[in-house]
Amino acid sequence: MIEVEDLHLAYPQAGGMENPVLAGVSLRVERGASLAILGPSGCGKSSFLYVLAGLIRPTSGRVEIDGHPVEKPRPEVALILQETGLLPWKTVWQNATLGLKLQGVADVKRIKRALRDLGLEGFERRYPAQLSGGEKKRVSLARALAQDATVLLMDEPLAALDALTKEQTQNLILKLWHKHGFTLVLVTHDIEEAVFLGQRIVIFSGRPARVVGTIPNPEMGDPAYRQSQTFFDRVREVRSFFQVPTP
Ligand SMILES: Nc1ncnc2c1ncn2[C@@H]1O[C@H](COP(=O)(O)OP(=O)(O)O)[C@@H](O)[C@H]1O
Ligand SMILES: [Mg+2]
Repeated sequence: MIEVEDLHLAYPQAGGMENPVLAGVSLRVERGASLAILGPSGCGKSSFLYVLAGLIRPTSGRVEIDGHPVEKPRPEVALILQETGLLPWKTVWQNATLGLKLQGVADVKRIKRALRDLGLEGFERRYPAQLSGGEKKRVSLARALAQDATVLLMDEPLAALDALTKEQTQNLILKLWHKHGFTLVLVTHDIEEAVFLGQRIVIFSGRPARVVGTIPNPEMGDPAYRQSQTFFDRVREVRSFFQVPTP
């Protein structure tokens, strides 16, 4: 379970000023649950994930994952960014192995299984430059699975993909979530994506970010959900938080 209580973060700025980015964020994600976070650009969503990943220390507040205070990056917690983080000079196999190498283990079976789960069998010897955007994304997901992460933090992971590949990759993420039971925290600016992949959707305010809305989305989980009336109604409900003017 992820527990965040009254989290504050401010970045130091030139001249001794501070840029407050998170102003008292509290939330909780049960083990194996999924949470989608939406919020205006620059509000602090990525910073929030970096705190969960143990990459930056907050100014104050409590952050715990499975009962342990988050103090540094851990192999159980994988962060997946929009830029896939693949090393161009390494093959698909080597890239998928990176997380395990850092842990000092090289479990060939686990890597094979992860590549199979992501439909990447036969791609092992290719280099990132020989892959499509969607395939690269799948390699970065395979890396997270190969390291047996129990928490996947995703920062707008599919933003650069074309609409169809994006939808296929969302379906794949849903399938993996069902199969592996990891806890998913997905930051996205895509309302449909949030409704498709989040059991709960949290809305951040503009900077400094606070939680201004929490929308339960219990119907999520069925790949056919995106065709349903409930899905469209939920999208509309979420969109109302952003008051996007209609012409
Ligand atoms: N390492 C950093 N040092 C100083 N300021 C930063 C740093 N990273 C982000 N910021 C600032 O923090 C704010 C929130 O950024 P970010 O978390 O990336 O927002 P979002 O992901 O919601 O677009 C922005 O004003 C950004 O300029
Ligand atoms: Mg961001």
